Amino acid sequence: MSRVIASLTLAAGLLTSASVSAVEISISCSALGKEYEICKQGVDAWAQKTGNTVKIVSTPNSATERLALYQQLLAAGAGDIDVFQIDVVWTGILADHLQDLTSNGQSVVSQHLPAMVETSRVNGKLMAMPWFADAGLLYYRKDLLDKYKRPVPQTWSDLTETARMIQEGERKEGKGDFWGYVWQGRAYEGLTTVALEWIASYNGGTIVDEKGEVTVENPKAVEALKTAAGWVGTITPEGVLNYTEEEARGVFQAGNAAFMRNWPYAWALAQGADSTIKDKVGIAPLPKGGADGRHAGTLGGQLLAVSKYSKNADAAIDLVMYLTGQEEQKRRAVQGSFNPTLVSLYGDADVAKANPFIGDLADVFANAVARPATVTGQNYNKVSTEFFNAVHQVLSKRAEPAQALNRLDRDLKRIKRSGWQ
Ligand code: GLC
Repeated sequence: MSRVIASLTLAAGLLTSASVSAVEISISCSALGKEYEICKQGVDAWAQKTGNTVKIVSTPNSATERLALYQQLLAAGAGDIDVFQIDVVWTGILADHLQDLTSNGQSVVSQHLPAMVETSRVNGKLMAMPWFADAGLLYYRKDLLDKYKRPVPQTWSDLTETARMIQEGERKEGKGDFWGYVWQGRAYEGLTTVALEWIASYNGGTIVDEKGEVTVENPKAVEALKTAAGWVGTITPEGVLNYTEEEARGVFQAGNAAFMRNWPYAWALAQGADSTIKDKVGIAPLPKGGADGRHAGTLGGQLLAVSKYSKNADAAIDLVMYLTGQEEQKRRAVQGSFNPTLVSLYGDADVAKANPFIGDLADVFANAVARPATVTGQNYNKVSTEFFNAVHQVLSKRAEPAQALNRLDRDLKRIKRSGWQ
């Protein structure tokens, strides 16, 4: 019997490969929360349609570690991965190793959010296709705000006060592990996104401005960092200094924090059938830095790009077009709360029903703060690394904000002298 099955399977395999000359494509997908599973369903659907096979290569959760891995593979000219999931801030850094998708994507790319299209282009060429858009959000426990009769915080000082009140109250009731506010504080790209939000919310600029001037050493930025450093060990666990997105979500989703800063993907998980906080969570814009500050969420998101060293570029490009297309972006939005980059899906009733925050917070997404990736080009990762290291020193009380920003200003200007591009 088993021999019969084996030979039938073999015959079917031969038939498929003979008829469509199937190939194997490998894709790197990130694996935060349900991301791996959702990526797998998408690539399997394409594989079934085309007769090709797809292998998923999983990558480290930390964006900084993921970039280092990609750079290592690409610098060696390795064709092991055909399709790369890349961060919106990496297009310039990796462009030399990527296929130019202009001729394949030009006709459809205008249907995507302009800010995301901008991150996909390098010197006018389309080097990647937009896949999903991110912006930093404030997650809060609706039930606890009700219990303590507090409104959703509008400023960081409101948040500090409310977080402290809820933390004290919950601990008094025996929840010794309860914290006010969790976020991403490890020295990696995530901290750059988080600290940019603090600084921008105080109107302290975007580290380097659009003209390429280093602006990070200013009194508003000092104030922003001082505020954040004051949370560590009070309303935020010291462990946050080693948290990426998933560690923060772990604490919040276990019911052990009143507030969390995270990206949209955490919504679908918080609302999952097995979540202890299902239906107890709200999402709001991140607080302002005082009455004259602004709500600021950093623009994040992911793109799909094809390696220049791919041996099956046509099939790889076809997979990218499928994954970034309407049907798949909708499925990912409904199942995983990945914000679409296709503008038309913002009017889709199923997407809105699964993710009420997408419509409610349209302004947050429309006015998301971009990191200075385009202007610093190939040097973006150096700029970001200097920035998150300086911030991490402040948070871990190894430097005063003014001193750290003064040194950072000097270091960034040194990088600038070697030329941003
Ligand atoms: C998310 C965002 C990305 C950002 C990263 C930081 O993956 O999409 O843009 O750089 O988080 O951790």
